[in-house]
Amino acid sequence: MRIGILTGGGDCSGLNAVIRAVTKHLIISERAEVFGFENGFLGLIENRYRKLDYLSVSGILAQGGTILGTHNKANPLKYFGADNADVSDVVLKNYNDLKLDGLVVIGGDGTMSISFALQQKGINIIGVPKTIDNDLMQTDRTFGFDTAVGVATDAVDRLQTTGQSHDRVMILETMGRYAGWIALEASIAGGADIVLIPEIPYDIEVVAEVCRNRAKKQRFTIIVVAEGAAPKDGKMTVRETIDDSPDPLRLGGVANVIRYELEQRIDSEIRVTVLGHIQRGGTPTPFDRILATRYGSFAADVVKKKEWGVMVALQNNELVTVPLESVANKTKTVPLDSDLIRTAKSVGTSFGS
Ligand code: F6P
Repeated sequence: MRIGILTGGGDCSGLNAVIRAVTKHLIISERAEVFGFENGFLGLIENRYRKLDYLSVSGILAQGGTILGTHNKANPLKYFGADNADVSDVVLKNYNDLKLDGLVVIGGDGTMSISFALQQKGINIIGVPKTIDNDLMQTDRTFGFDTAVGVATDAVDRLQTTGQSHDRVMILETMGRYAGWIALEASIAGGADIVLIPEIPYDIEVVAEVCRNRAKKQRFTIIVVAEGAAPKDGKMTVRETIDDSPDPLRLGGVANVIRYELEQRIDSEIRVTVLGHIQRGGTPTPFDRILATRYGSFAADVVKKKEWGVMVALQNNELVTVPLESVANKTKTVPLDSDLIRTAKSVGTSFGS
């Protein structure tokens, strides 16, 4: 058995744990030959790969990043290196020349959408859901998310002590793209006073009112805002547009927009922290190490069954497979009837609405 593996899109903690689990399980159970493509789909386009043996994936379980490298612009259907032409035939040729039985592709929504298209071209693919954003359809949890929530929660805890000391309004901006999962879970875990998520447009007057009321009693306020949050009748804050990226919009900066708006409305001092890529780097939490290892080991089982064109997923703590098609080009946002929203509201957290 000959299997390729790659990591696509933005990195997150736990990628190496998946690479290790897939490779070790296939070598132990099938004596498979495993080939790691470098820098995501770019390696598949440029035919850059290396053989992964047992030793080369030993000792990487707790390492952040990806030993294979990744790329968040390399799309074989719209390749930036060829005037955005479709080079999927090149990819198919490289795949066939290497006599691969299949490919394990570890990635988020963009990567799964590309994988679905390549599967239709005749490449056997099994997807593994990664992203700090937790926004992939059909799975309760992506690996990398728990680590990001841990980092954001630690930030809330730290902002609370310094905010309390100075009677300030502290605004923390998290990542998460168009979904509010990181901000919401970190707010519950850290006990934030206000959480602003893309799914619930905020009213700056309500946010200001909460801050003013808290200034009278508790004196400080912690606001957690997801980068995709937007005011009612307003737009998301876009940091930059990267035209040749599968997802061209880079969000960021909403915390400073809110700071400016609040400064016009309240007397308290305001400080902003933008967490950024700290949420993506570093060692995975035990939960993410276990989830990534479960995903990788299960993906290897699915390879052995030759069940292609699927993504492994976690549903009610059971590992299942779902068609790539049901994941491609979709985003899982926080449902408005989510128990997480209800829980946050029940302990007095405001959504600024
Ligand atoms: O999808 C993961 C993510 O970290 C998002 O939360 C964020 O909006 C985006 O990627 C940042 O992308 P880049 O690394 O290209 O700045």
